[in-house]
Amino acid sequence: MATVSPTSTVASAPAATPQPAMRLRELVFGAACAAAVRAAARLGVADALGDTPATAEELAAAVNSEPQPLRRLLRALSCYGIFVETENGTFAHTDMSRMLREDDPNSLRYIALWCTEPWTWDAWPRLDEAVRSGASVFHEMYGKGFFDYLHQDAHESAHVFNRAMTTSSMQSALDVAGLLDLTGVSVVADIGGGQGHVLASLLEKHPAVRGTLLDLPDVVAKADPRLRTGGALAQRVRIVPGDCREDIPVDADLYIIKNILEWDDESTRRTLRNIVAAARPGARVVVIENLVDDTASMKFTTAMDLLLLLNVGGAKHSKASLVERITQSGLVLGDIRPVNPYLHAFECAVPG
Ligand SMILES: C[S@@+](CC[C@H](N)C(=O)[O-])C[C@H]1O[C@@H](n2cnc3c(N)ncnc32)[C@H](O)[C@@H]1O
Repeated sequence: MATVSPTSTVASAPAATPQPAMRLRELVFGAACAAAVRAAARLGVADALGDTPATAEELAAAVNSEPQPLRRLLRALSCYGIFVETENGTFAHTDMSRMLREDDPNSLRYIALWCTEPWTWDAWPRLDEAVRSGASVFHEMYGKGFFDYLHQDAHESAHVFNRAMTTSSMQSALDVAGLLDLTGVSVVADIGGGQGHVLASLLEKHPAVRGTLLDLPDVVAKADPRLRTGGALAQRVRIVPGDCREDIPVDADLYIIKNILEWDDESTRRTLRNIVAAARPGARVVVIENLVDDTASMKFTTAMDLLLLLNVGGAKHSKASLVERITQSGLVLGDIRPVNPYLHAFECAVPG
């Protein structure tokens, strides 16, 4: 099938960086951009568009919408490099629009939906309240905590959340497996390891290593099939349902804690203390987190940080705040290295 090179067929050249007044106007319309991405994802426009450019009429027929409004949606998205309008008025994929396809190997479709779920549109206007109080706005909005709301009242959002977390874990799991040197490690434990995608990637890469996955009971019950009874890695895996803020009954040479130290401070401190108490002297602990500073992706991580404030009263760490929590727990901090553009690994050891 013929493919179109977006650069050779762009109807108009991208605009130069706008002046501050126009840039600010664009920024305060950020909701329009987020809504347009969400609409395209929900309509399935990227899935309907193949390698051959298509007209708005053809796409509208495929996604059951009106051609003119769909053309307007695609034109708005093209301004951001999501789809491109060709010289003959058809639309083609760009690298970003392809990632809205459900079947793309690097698909971000569920992340796009998760970041724009209906509750987010209720929460963002209350950011000034959250900044004043320093607390989540969720109880005031829905009369219950975020996860209770998600699981009791918003089943579609809960499904989107699970798919988004799986996408995000599977993509970063390969980066973590690529980064970590497991020389001398016989047992690796992933604490708060979700469904175990990081653990599975590590065990697949290192056939002599055994693994332990600890997470909440409901979460490990749905662990990656590779880890569960009958799975290819099951013989080398121990699954521990538990609460890492209470106790970490796990003996390992290497403990991974990835993207879980984003709760209130007391929970973070307790989890680190529990690891130090459980691990034998000399064991390695690798803390992997998004940072709100010292990173190439600060617009993304600071947005997540604000969303965490709104929904669970949590926070992403700065490099300094994470170093402080780690050293206060008694761990000895070693190298800090980027895992990918948005994750950092803090290599630590339990003192002898
Ligand atoms: C953002 S996810 C990160 C999952 C995984 N570490 C990863 O990076 O893909 C946070 C994880 O912490 C787990 N979690 C939350 N509270 C926990 C607790 N008290 N004890 C153990 N795990 C917990 C959640 O179930 C979830 O799997």
